[in-house]
Amino acid sequence: MNMYKTFLHGGDYNPEQWLDSPEILEKDIEYMKKANINEVTLGVFSWSVLEPEDGVYEFGWLEEIINKLHKNNIKVMLATPSAARPKWLADKYEEVLRVDESRHRNLFGGRHNHCYTSPQYRRKVREINVRLSKTFGNHPAVIAWHISNELGGECHCPLCQEAFKEWLRKKYKTIDALNKAWATTFWSHVYNDFSQVESPSVRGENGLHGLNLDWKRFVTDQTVDFVKAEKEALLEGGSNLPIIINMMYDYCGLNYFKFKDVVDIASWDSYPTWHKGDDVEIAVDTALQHDFIRSLFKKPFLLMESCPSSTNWQSVSKLKRPGLLLASSLQAIAHGSDSVQYFQIRQSRGSSEKFHGAVIDHYGKTDTRVFKEICEVGDGLNKIEEICGSKTNAKVAIIFDLESRWAMEDAQGPRNKGLHYRDTVKKAYKGLRRLGLNVDIINMEQEIDEYEIVFAPMLYMFRDGFEQKARNYVEQGGSLVLSYWSGIVNETDLCHLGGIPHQLLDVFGLRSTEIDGLYDGEYNYGVSVENNHLNLNKTYRCEHLCDLVRETTATPLLTYQEDFYKGFPALTCNTFGKGKAYYICADFEQQFYDDFCEKLVEEKEMQLELLNIPRGVQVTTRETDKDIYVFVQNFNKEAITVDMPLNKYTIIYGNYDGTIQSFGTVILKRNK
Ligand code: GLA
Ligand code: ZN
Repeated sequence: MNMYKTFLHGGDYNPEQWLDSPEILEKDIEYMKKANINEVTLGVFSWSVLEPEDGVYEFGWLEEIINKLHKNNIKVMLATPSAARPKWLADKYEEVLRVDESRHRNLFGGRHNHCYTSPQYRRKVREINVRLSKTFGNHPAVIAWHISNELGGECHCPLCQEAFKEWLRKKYKTIDALNKAWATTFWSHVYNDFSQVESPSVRGENGLHGLNLDWKRFVTDQTVDFVKAEKEALLEGGSNLPIIINMMYDYCGLNYFKFKDVVDIASWDSYPTWHKGDDVEIAVDTALQHDFIRSLFKKPFLLMESCPSSTNWQSVSKLKRPGLLLASSLQAIAHGSDSVQYFQIRQSRGSSEKFHGAVIDHYGKTDTRVFKEICEVGDGLNKIEEICGSKTNAKVAIIFDLESRWAMEDAQGPRNKGLHYRDTVKKAYKGLRRLGLNVDIINMEQEIDEYEIVFAPMLYMFRDGFEQKARNYVEQGGSLVLSYWSGIVNETDLCHLGGIPHQLLDVFGLRSTEIDGLYDGEYNYGVSVENNHLNLNKTYRCEHLCDLVRETTATPLLTYQEDFYKGFPALTCNTFGKGKAYYICADFEQQFYDDFCEKLVEEKEMQLELLNIPRGVQVTTRETDKDIYVFVQNFNKEAITVDMPLNKYTIIYGNYDGTIQSFGTVILKRNK
């Protein structure tokens, strides 16, 4: 059981938009109860109502709401209001508004338009946080602090420039060390002193890859520091409730892993473009993000926001077909979420989210299709309450490293038209998930010993001793799968000398000599080598990038079919210590990953819950010390036959008659 003991079902609620309509607020609570909503997130973007003038605080309305919610057994996550500031604040303290990359200060407006370095902004945030904490931090309804909202963006103001210089001074100590790390002699960009360094800009320096990388790291560190300051203010006010931040889908502006020491619970806002094309693909893509968020802190997370119907900021506001809301909500639970939360409880009347889906729409009553489906979610969560707080056990992992991605995508070559990093990660993910395996999505700094198989596709940067970690892992018996374009640079994006993949030539039994970039529409093929030990027997298409390796002790399993490197290895395996080091030389099609993953799992003699899982069916498990829960979900448009050995399991949720309906979920349970 987690700290809430029960799945949270609720979401963002903005009563400050309805303070002049008490009858509406009354109805809200009645409707929440009807839908089994047991939590709301309050106070996101409420600053101008909480502090209408500098130093004048009006918390009465919030207190009243929280008391009412408490009487009705509805818990509250209380947000700090820093994600958007009042107009008076921006007018009074100019420094709080952001300066963009071209060094222009923004006008008031939007959200996340603040400088996270500004002492004035930090002071004002601290003051209101301390007060919020004093007033509500020990209220029995309040269970957690939601810090700011969807942190993101960067500021290039003079204060941030100073902070960046300080950050660099701490990191490099001497300007010589910085010059070396960034290779500044190239194009004569050598610095004489830290004071000369500026953040990257389209109007100036933007080709120093080391600078670009360090700036991104600084932006993350400064944002972490801002969250830390928010947390300290809450502690100062007397509350030590858990700290949560809500993260975003595939957001590359911040390295979320770096928040691990400040934030207690990871959460994210999920807005997939369901029904835009194939839902089976969208389901896989969403699962990957769930797994990424869970793997950050390796514990249950929260689905902080999701849309009850259509998402109005997407290019087309598509309705969720009947059943999809329940399926996507349970999918989050399957992957380790302990909540299903929505944006938003009541649809706003004006401004840019007035057409965004909500639990209660402008009609204002509960006899709507959407409300009915929300009730079904609430009901479903009640039925499976015993799963709340259970763990996810993954035996396989994929390294998907943001710092390496930052560097790789900034570097020029070997394919400026698209390296397809995330797509490649997804292909490996799909190959593993097809077998019903849980997959952790981790970064290079996380431990890998616990896994049977680790994929490290396109791991361009090796840092933090990854070489040694990889060597030990294989030596001790792990199966490590590396690919083309790996181990090329160090942590400041300087190319490794002496052969790549850096310091792992003997582990992989090869050296990558050259890499061929292919134009869109150009292909090569990997042909299975006869009698290869994995029994691969097909020919697989590849595109985008083809690595030309020279093997020493590695054995080729596939070889190229065409071009001047015909016959060169396209997939290799090297036995090293007790383990195996595989090297994928090219960007292969999905079929390759499907077959390869199946063979690897067979080779490792790993146990699978279900066999022959049909396409579009996702199998995911959570477990307690005693039991395993197997979620089987059908994301196909049609009902599908699924083979489930019912002698091993009891069905604790869902309908199964040999088939599972479209968007249907069946949850099985067995004793460990
Ligand atoms: C984000 C924000 C919310 C809201 C939703 C709309 O996730 O956190 O405040 O704007 O988008 O989809
Ligand atoms: Zn700034």
